[in-house]
Amino acid sequence: MNRSAGAGRVGIIVVAAGSGSRLGAVLPKALVPLAGQPILGHALQGVLACPGVTAVVVVAPPGHRSEAEAACRQGGSEYAATASGRGSPRTAVPVAVVGGGAERGDSVAAGLAALPADVDIVLVHDAARCLTPVVVFERVVAAVRGGASAVVPGLPVVDTIKAVDAAGLVVATPARSTLRAIQTPQGFRRDVLERAHALGGHATDDATLVERLGEPVLVIEGDPRAVKVTTAHDLETAARLLAT
Ligand code: CTP
Ligand code: MG
Repeated sequence: MNRSAGAGRVGIIVVAAGSGSRLGAVLPKALVPLAGQPILGHALQGVLACPGVTAVVVVAPPGHRSEAEAACRQGGSEYAATASGRGSPRTAVPVAVVGGGAERGDSVAAGLAALPADVDIVLVHDAARCLTPVVVFERVVAAVRGGASAVVPGLPVVDTIKAVDAAGLVVATPARSTLRAIQTPQGFRRDVLERAHALGGHATDDATLVERLGEPVLVIEGDPRAVKVTTAHDLETAARLLAT
């Protein structure tokens, strides 16, 4: 068990710099309105309620920093209003906004560089998973505090998944019971995530970089509400969920 992680201060990097090509909106995806505020503002609700969080870095779409800052202010006020309504106002957590890069990994690296020095547990969260409930953040932080150096939430897959080659021919069918669909927030001991990013290389999530270090990555229970808003259909589904 890592002592510093056990007592650790939590920093959360919210990656929001993607263009959202599959959503196909005029604005970058994190700034697209959903039930009265940008997707990014919704994403901050779970982030700000995370136990032990002392710093948040939002990685904004290049050229849209001021809109991202406005979305953070709106998300922060929304959070403060609901938290005080529950009788549990929390000391305000500072939210810094930095510019993102061409690939998701570049955006995470920009966020890591902007984290305060005293943070020793880092969560990386997709702004696009904007309805992720705080319970997922709680489970991830608890697992890192419990001694895991890398923790990802995941759900069993319902479809049979096949690996195919460039011609569309199936090359493998892994047993479904061994597969998990991986979500965010992903939680890491800071030193492990920094070493993983120093290696570089392309990956669709941060845990993949940690796997390349040879470090164990623990999968814990995810949540259907942590689904990523990717297409216009997902945005409609999210709007319906918020209306109920
Ligand atoms: N992301 C980022 N920087 C990038 C690419 C992605 O910060 N250069 C972020 C997105 O803003 C999103 C998360 O990574 O919150 C997951 O990426 P994805 O859902 O693929 O978003 P986009 O890349 O914006 O969407 P698409 O792939 O459809 O273009
Ligand atoms: Mg993408």
